[in-house]
Amino acid sequence: MKTLTRVIQVKEEIRDMRSQGKTIGFVPTMGYLHEGHLNLIRESLRKTDVTVVSIFVNPAQFGPGEDFARYPRNLERDSEILKKEGVDCLFVPGPEEMFHKGHNTYVDVYDLKDKLCGRSRPTQFRGVCTVVLKLFNIVGPDVSYFGQKDAQQAIILKRMVEDLNLDVKIDVLPIAREEDGLALSSRNEYLNKEERKAALVLSKGLKEAQMMVEKREEKSEAIIDRVKEMISQEPLAKMDYVEIVDMDNLDPVVRIEKETLAVLAVFVGKARLIDNAILRPKE
Ligand code: PAF
Repeated sequence: MKTLTRVIQVKEEIRDMRSQGKTIGFVPTMGYLHEGHLNLIRESLRKTDVTVVSIFVNPAQFGPGEDFARYPRNLERDSEILKKEGVDCLFVPGPEEMFHKGHNTYVDVYDLKDKLCGRSRPTQFRGVCTVVLKLFNIVGPDVSYFGQKDAQQAIILKRMVEDLNLDVKIDVLPIAREEDGLALSSRNEYLNKEERKAALVLSKGLKEAQMMVEKREEKSEAIIDRVKEMISQEPLAKMDYVEIVDMDNLDPVVRIEKETLAVLAVFVGKARLIDNAILRPKE
């Protein structure tokens, strides 16, 4: 595996691969890799000739007072994992390599950025879109892989790709979960033993929502109320939001008549956790 830290090195490497007619798969990450990342990486390894992974804890997507400084990092461990998986190229830029002094260009997907997580993290998606667009310009992938756990991020990035006519396909893979249902996230690292147990309220709430839809409950309000009640009964959890939204525009849905997204964000201890599930009404 080649580990590169400079933009120019990655561009040269990719140019070389392209001249050999190879397809490029790309998995952007903020490191502290878990099985969810590995699913994306393995898919890229299966589907494309060359797999590039980036590790960059992107300061632009953290707001003031958020967890940028304490976001978990372990480059040595990540690097070993990626080598074992057979990744071709790891791009680990420093902060100045990605955002040079004077950087002043940002990308926003206006109608989607303020919904759901955008309400409590108003600059998050501007930071995500900007860094991902920059990474796409550096790596020039044919396909880039993202996790369904960050559903809003995936929807926003798909829109950015469409709106800006980018030549990259976004492939979104299902949420990876622990056996007991907790969605994998680098931020699970913040949880102590009790909080780890309390965090199950997210996946349990979503399961309950799916069960209610299976029993032909169509009213979003009834489902949202039930999930909120479950969260309020967990003393270590504090709700940020619970919503049922359209899968394309993230607008709230009143009646569940087609596939719809149940999404939630909950604070547990120092962690703000997100999760989601697709609700499929019975025919
Ligand atoms: O999902 C993430 O880890 C980040 O938001 C991403 C896509 C790597 C951009 O920094």
